[in-house]
Amino acid sequence: MTTIPTLDLVDALASEYADKSPSEILELALSQQGEIAISFSGAEDVVLIDMASHLGKPFRVFSLDTGRLHAETYQFIETVRKHYKIDIEICFPENEAIQQLTTEKGLFSFYRDGHQECCSIRKVKPLRKKLASLDGWITGQRKDQSPGTRDEIPVVQADTGFSGPGKQLIKYNPLANWSSADVWNYIRMMEIPYNPLHERGFISIGCEPCTRAVLPNQHEREGRWWWEEATHKECGLHAGNLIK
Ligand code: ADX
Ligand code: SF4
Repeated sequence: MTTIPTLDLVDALASEYADKSPSEILELALSQQGEIAISFSGAEDVVLIDMASHLGKPFRVFSLDTGRLHAETYQFIETVRKHYKIDIEICFPENEAIQQLTTEKGLFSFYRDGHQECCSIRKVKPLRKKLASLDGWITGQRKDQSPGTRDEIPVVQADTGFSGPGKQLIKYNPLANWSSADVWNYIRMMEIPYNPLHERGFISIGCEPCTRAVLPNQHEREGRWWWEEATHKECGLHAGNLIK
């Protein structure tokens, strides 16, 4: 098992692994000392879970339940749990914060005020809490997923958004160089579970009120927070992508 990489080492690893396969990058991540987990919500993440299960190393998986996911997504999470016979650590938002938001502003404040406030309570704070117990996390982010925010993500990076005082958190993006087509070729070839919403025109899937299907040739990100501006669509889980 390798030790947790220092900042200089992270940059060196990012260069060394820039052209390696997702499975090799994942193997590097799972060899890191300390606690590390796959952050799971969508199609890309099942590819990571599938690859991890083939590597034969122990791995952890967590998922953020915002309370606003599609019924299909909840079923999908359960399908993945059973298919791989794994534990999925479900993270919930803090009760008081949700109660205050919804009492003061109702259940759909994001359509009026923008999505940041709700995402902060339902996604970012629970993620921060989970990451405080980890030394590294593995995401399914891809460069071609979001114009303007993800086009430069490295395969390994120091997580500037979530590192705590005295603790450097490492973030691995093994699929950074894969396209959506690569992901879906893998899913079909390996016959792994996917969210049934993909059969109904959904590509990038988040919370139910903030996700819609896209038309042919629309970018996948246009189905997320569609009432807001077309680029720079991040909810805060990957806040570092907005700092350039
Ligand atoms: S988001 O920031 O816009 O919501 P996106 O849906 O593109 O993220 O997913 C990118 C990666 O973020 C996923 O591959 C996954 O690793 C992580 N992620 C997104 N949503 C969740 C969630 N609800 N729970 C856990 N991880 C998530
Ligand atoms: Fe709230 Fe929408 Fe963000 Fe989900 S995606 S946390 S419902 S604003």
